[in-house]
Amino acid sequence: MVVRIGLVAASDRASAGEYEDRGTPALRDYLRTRITTAHEFVERLIPDDYSTIVSTLTSLVDEEKCSLVFTTGGTGPSPRDLTPEATEAVCDRILPGFGEAMRRASYDIVPTAILSRQIVGTRGACLIVNLPGKPSAIAECLDVIMAAIPDCVDLI
Ligand code: MTE
Repeated sequence: MVVRIGLVAASDRASAGEYEDRGTPALRDYLRTRITTAHEFVERLIPDDYSTIVSTLTSLVDEEKCSLVFTTGGTGPSPRDLTPEATEAVCDRILPGFGEAMRRASYDIVPTAILSRQIVGTRGACLIVNLPGKPSAIAECLDVIMAAIPDCVDLI
């Protein structure tokens, strides 16, 4: 079986072509080295728009049958940072420990990690994980997720 993994980059400017999306390549590079089972990525580059994020996440889980979805960007305190709100809206359950653990580990690296409102939750059997948009932050947070997932996966 090939595991389908959704990669969602939420950024007004990157989706408008004003600058390059650096989140998705960082995610792809990290995951390729860590995930040993057969997998394929389903990628979406979208604006920081609440309804677009909601419909994108819903479609990746319900129609594209992704087992894991990672979002990058839109977790900060700015008015257009709406990824956590949209994620919460599509999830059946929020797992606060994941967000807390990522912020905790990140805070030791950079104090501004406290600004990220990133959350993690489940929609059916799919785990949806918010990550900040900065490529270095993506790896720092994924280290935490990858350390926890093997012990948690059968319980989710
Ligand atoms: N987490 C880690 N590990 N490393 C970082 O550099 N940057 C922070 C925070 N989390 C950061 C981090 C900053 S500066 C912001 S504003 C928030 O993530 C939100 O980023 P986002 O809006 O791109 O999601």
